[in-house]
Amino acid sequence: MRPIQAPFPAARFRRTRRTDALRRLTQENGLTVNDLIWPIFIREGTGIREPIASMPGVFRLSLDQALIAAQEAAGLGIPAICLFPYTDPSVKTETCEEAWNPENLTNRCIRAIKAAVPDLAIMTDIALDPYNSNGHDGLVRDGVILNDETVEALVKMALAQADSGADILGPSDMMDGRIAAIRQALEGAGHKDVAILSYSAKYASAFYGPFRDAVGASGALKGDKKTYQMDPGNSDEALRLIERDLREGADMVMVKPGMPYLDICRRVKDTFGVPTYAYQVSGEYAMIKGAAERGWIKGEAAMMESLLAFKRAGCDGILTYFAPEAARLLRG
Ligand code: PBG
Repeated sequence: MRPIQAPFPAARFRRTRRTDALRRLTQENGLTVNDLIWPIFIREGTGIREPIASMPGVFRLSLDQALIAAQEAAGLGIPAICLFPYTDPSVKTETCEEAWNPENLTNRCIRAIKAAVPDLAIMTDIALDPYNSNGHDGLVRDGVILNDETVEALVKMALAQADSGADILGPSDMMDGRIAAIRQALEGAGHKDVAILSYSAKYASAFYGPFRDAVGASGALKGDKKTYQMDPGNSDEALRLIERDLREGADMVMVKPGMPYLDICRRVKDTFGVPTYAYQVSGEYAMIKGAAERGWIKGEAAMMESLLAFKRAGCDGILTYFAPEAARLLRG
């Protein structure tokens, strides 16, 4: 596409910016509540809304409070929530079997929300880090993150979540071959309509810090995740990963983090034209909230601008901790 432009003064760009009506009429990309997926942190207990210091305005919710949040999401028209469990160190092991326990916190929460708010889509996270005593997304032996053994564990985890009623599974572990294995297992178990939103292009990022506080993985993590998450310098590799995951049966794909990787979002959308999502991660949220709390930027405006940027970059949706706040603004 090559836009044609008359020379000045026949062309004056300011004509279409003159009034709010003209600006709205000529806006190329817009954000709606349909674009939002709300990540929620859950924990054991009742009546608990536990603040997370590095994520102002975000709480760890006990199951009853998560139900209220789910109702709030549905009431605001947010199409999906995504569940992340905070697990007590006492349930973490090196073998991570709690990850596929049908009675684990996430699976109980899926069933409770599905029963109370059936129209709200529930997305889950597939990775072993909340259950792993060493904080990694995969099983570790002698300091090495094991790929194939981890994939077997992830398949069990995926099936337990699908059995509980999850609508969208989100493998965030970055092991090789997990999408094919999960897809095959889902088909085999009769879960033909469970969608996979693959965290296909997930970078080894410094922006996950507050999330690791939220799920209680910061203290546990030994070393870093660079042998499985992507190098921030890479771009072609993201396209190869997305193509691989699509061929293995992913329905939707994700780029993560969001704002520092908008170039990747655009390349993915232009190359494949598939449902493309970005995760505006905890560190991005914390930066905007933290600066706004100090009066250094206007919080609401920065939030909406950051979310609109994802639409401009070609994303169909955004996982964002701002979801309820943005939805309230969008609904006026
Ligand atoms: C772990 C997982 C992470 C996030 C989502 N799933 C952290 C990590 O890879 O260490 C990060 C989300 C955020 O920072 O908001 N499987």
